[in-house]
Amino acid sequence: MVVTTTGEPTADELAALDQLYADFAAAHMAPLWTQRAGLMPQAPQPGAVPMLWRWSTLHPLAARSGELVPVGRGGERRAIALANPGLPGTAYATPTLWAAIQYLGPREEAPAHRHTQTAFRFVVEGEGVWTNVDAGDGEVDAIAMRRGDLLLTPGMHWHEHHNTTDHPMAWIDGLDIPLVRQLDAGFFEFGPEVLATTETPETSRNERLWGYPGLTPVGAPAAASSPLKAYRWEHTDAALTAQLALEAEGHPGVVSPGHAAVRFTNPATGRDALSTMRTEMHRLAPGARSRTIRVAGSGVWQVFSGSGVVTVGSERYEVATGDLFAVPSWAPLTIGTDQGLDAFRFSDDPVFEALGLARTEIS
Ligand SMILES: [Fe+2]
Repeated sequence: MVVTTTGEPTADELAALDQLYADFAAAHMAPLWTQRAGLMPQAPQPGAVPMLWRWSTLHPLAARSGELVPVGRGGERRAIALANPGLPGTAYATPTLWAAIQYLGPREEAPAHRHTQTAFRFVVEGEGVWTNVDAGDGEVDAIAMRRGDLLLTPGMHWHEHHNTTDHPMAWIDGLDIPLVRQLDAGFFEFGPEVLATTETPETSRNERLWGYPGLTPVGAPAAASSPLKAYRWEHTDAALTAQLALEAEGHPGVVSPGHAAVRFTNPATGRDALSTMRTEMHRLAPGARSRTIRVAGSGVWQVFSGSGVVTVGSERYEVATGDLFAVPSWAPLTIGTDQGLDAFRFSDDPVFEALGLARTEIS
């Protein structure tokens, strides 16, 4: 606003101001002073909204697509994304995270491809599918997918799936697709039509090499991403069980009373298992209630077992096994449970930390 010495703009000044804005627009320029509040808010004002997707809705719809839509080259995967209604025109769960239910029918195969987007699979129920992942050394490793397992396919690793059973299997895919899209960093390559391997080993090679706590194979080559590609439920479960048992014995280790949690990490570095997404498993003992926490950055949770009540911002959800919910940036989150609850979480925390944008508030 142009202000004269008397404090009131003259008619000539108002006309000149209108012309100035018109000339800005014509020159593809935009003054900060008309948009500062939107560009630089006091605190995050996410477009994404708290949102719940029920497994009892997702799974039957995915199964219907299994009867109608083939898996093959082009579409690549029978994956159905969770689209946050606060992000219209996208199929994003949050501004940085993509979450989808993927469904593979009996004896089906999903062909090889690779991309700069980083991905993981989390299995809430079922087994029988193998994900073949390029181990980074040109060799393909066949990795069994079972209930409670976290499987990694870091960026630019070839991957393909094959179902060796006579029953379908569904799981959750998490990717950093929105982030990579926003950064214009996406590259994608098709692999061969024929699977690199249809092996079905009980234990994959990467687990045999890297799957021992605190033991780094001296002869293994260094890799930018986690050399361990499978995190098994038996280990996750044992770690959470131990935390709550130690708490009961009066020892430290839990996040807060009755709230155990573990983070999936790269055994070669101790940092997050994936460079752009944090992955964690949380367990609330029966009757426990988490502290209320809000973080800069967004996350998606999936209830793995049990039930509870989740509060995200002003929304309140009663959740059960398989249900997923999105937590927008800076939205306070509280989880409580009567019977006990296990929940998987993934978030964009590593990106926020790398950029110096991380911020947490616990109450
Ligand atoms: Fe992929």
